[in-house]
Amino acid sequence: MKKSENTRRGFIKQAAVGTAGLSFGSIFSSFKGKSYANTLESNERPAGSHHVLQLRADPIPTVRVGFIGAGNRGGKAARRFTFIEGIEIKAICDLHENRVKNTQKTIIDKGFPHADEYVGEEVWRKVCERDDIDLIYITTYWANHTPMAVYAMEQGKHVVTEVPAAISVEECWSLVNTAEKTRKHCMMLENCCYDFFELTTLNMAQKGVFGELVHGEGAYIHDLRSQLKSKTNWRTKYYEDYTGNPYPTHGLGPICQAMNIHRGDKMNFLVSVSSGQLGMTQYLKDTFGEDSSEAGKQYKMGDMNTTIIKTEKGKTIMVQHDVTSPRPYSRLHTLSGTKGFAQKYPSPGIALEPDAHNFLDKDTYNKLMKEYEHPFITKIGEYAKEVGGHGGMDFIMDYRLIYCLRNGLPLDQDVYDAAEWSCLFELTEKSASNGGFPVQIPDFTRGDWKLLDGLDFAD
Ligand SMILES: NC(=O)c1ccc[n+]([C@@H]2O[C@H](COP(=O)([O-])OP(=O)(O)OC[C@H]3O[C@@H](n4cnc5c(N)ncnc54)[C@H](O)[C@@H]3O)[C@@H](O)[C@H]2O)c1
Repeated sequence: MKKSENTRRGFIKQAAVGTAGLSFGSIFSSFKGKSYANTLESNERPAGSHHVLQLRADPIPTVRVGFIGAGNRGGKAARRFTFIEGIEIKAICDLHENRVKNTQKTIIDKGFPHADEYVGEEVWRKVCERDDIDLIYITTYWANHTPMAVYAMEQGKHVVTEVPAAISVEECWSLVNTAEKTRKHCMMLENCCYDFFELTTLNMAQKGVFGELVHGEGAYIHDLRSQLKSKTNWRTKYYEDYTGNPYPTHGLGPICQAMNIHRGDKMNFLVSVSSGQLGMTQYLKDTFGEDSSEAGKQYKMGDMNTTIIKTEKGKTIMVQHDVTSPRPYSRLHTLSGTKGFAQKYPSPGIALEPDAHNFLDKDTYNKLMKEYEHPFITKIGEYAKEVGGHGGMDFIMDYRLIYCLRNGLPLDQDVYDAAEWSCLFELTEKSASNGGFPVQIPDFTRGDWKLLDGLDFAD
């Protein structure tokens, strides 16, 4: 064993010791899917597998799609797909018949043929097993993203999944290993990478407008306390025995793209600290009454989690998560470099040398944004705004996905992005539950991050 491997393993183990007895069980094993061996330390690539960086598959002139999950995200995604050329929707699957029917109606109203309907907990496997489907589009609960994605790839399908793609490091490895074994695309649907400010500032970063990036900040700060009123909400169950950042990818994804993570740099370790649990408890008292059973319920999740990541090249990234405080929505999206600075929230601004003490005035800002407008926005931005989906970013994502599949191009996000961004789910919990102890971030490319020199979207 090389010295560095030895050090790395010791690093993770120290963090893991303190989490013994941590009860992930109730939430992590709620899905009756395949179980995976604990591969936290497994960085040997299985014999016969090869990396899938810049993976190209045969062009698919008409992409035949199966949707698993027809709730909020799945129903909206199916609608967006009716605005894209070269699509056939073959199957719609959900636990609830009415959701399948509603999605069916949406596509039929747009002139699409009737899709086959699947209702039940295990019928998604049948969708994956069909031989007339190219792409499985997963929009179900967090705990079944990876089991479904892995099975879909094993059945020879390309797969995309909602965020986070995985909720443990071993799930991240299973996504990577399966994609490498099957040579199928596995993309996480990180739509925030396609938002207008993020894309244009990515273009600026790539063209050196900010000099060399030194630090980035991303977040998911979204007051979702009203979800606590529902007794059946699957998301709030996680708050009971988890503290960390369970939803890191919206903030982290665009920053990692700007910083060329696994395309010339890599994330090495993180430290994560959670605040106390105050706001959610206050909200429950205010909503249900001081003496109510709801207010008496114990939640482990701190209101605010703050994580700092250090990269191999000495860059830092801060990621925050807060869904239980009364405050305006923010994903921060801060890029700080040797020549300038950009930040999206609370209002978009850019500051550049030689006067980086001040944000650019409105006219100069608008001129710069136009000059560096990302090619995706120039090509499809206005149409995307008409179709909608978080202001258009969801449509740009879907459009690019189908464009790349139809043209046999590498996808904009690969399985390593999905694993790197999602592994924070478990690793922030490990660190935050151990006094902010540093935790190693696995290199899911197993050294191949050195092969690429920057992020290059295929065209
Ligand atoms: N990217 C974004 O902007 C964004 C926004 C909201 C939610 N999300 C993510 O999208 C995912 C879905 O969120 P949502 O808001 O649509 O939730 P939702 O509860 O509205 O929808 C999830 C659907 O999955 C179905 N489902 C669960 N298990 C299933 C199974 N075994 N087989 C078939 N269907 C099954 C449920 O019946 C439900 O209809 C989550 O991962 C969430 O984090 C992403």
